[in-house]
Amino acid sequence: MKIYTYPDKVLRITADPVENIDEGIQTLIDNMLQTMYDAPSGIGLAAPQVGETKRIIVYDLMHAKDKPKDSHVLINPEITAGEGEERYEEACLSVIDFSAEITRKAKVEVRGFDRHGKPVLIEADKMLAICLQHEIDHLNGTLIVDYVSPLKRSIYKKKLQKRRKRH
Ligand code: NI
Repeated sequence: MKIYTYPDKVLRITADPVENIDEGIQTLIDNMLQTMYDAPSGIGLAAPQVGETKRIIVYDLMHAKDKPKDSHVLINPEITAGEGEERYEEACLSVIDFSAEITRKAKVEVRGFDRHGKPVLIEADKMLAICLQHEIDHLNGTLIVDYVSPLKRSIYKKKLQKRRKRH
């Protein structure tokens, strides 16, 4: 699937909850996993990144390390608790050639459903906590560029414009 990139408007839409995990959703999940694995070093992907405004995320923290697959799917994920602070340099498949240090909760509790509709409760810390917060941000139309100063954001926008002119 095509990965939409900033400043595409689809990335700004608040995604809708999945009400029925039907065949279409299963296909979407398979395609999202394939798209994540085809992308260089992406450890997570949210449905809006492939143009589907549904509350679905997939992730595999091992992907960047070329380790065996450890894929996870979360439908309608929600952060139900969080504590502490962690600062980490993040990148995003939808924000090309950009990274930023972002402060997030160090630990989060996330609830959602797996692809079979079974409720899931995750107590996450470290990379998993960062990854889940980043992907859930996508479902709410938030991107890593939103966390940086207006100055850094405008420099990045100019860089993108120059790039587009070249191509
Ligand atoms: Ni992202």
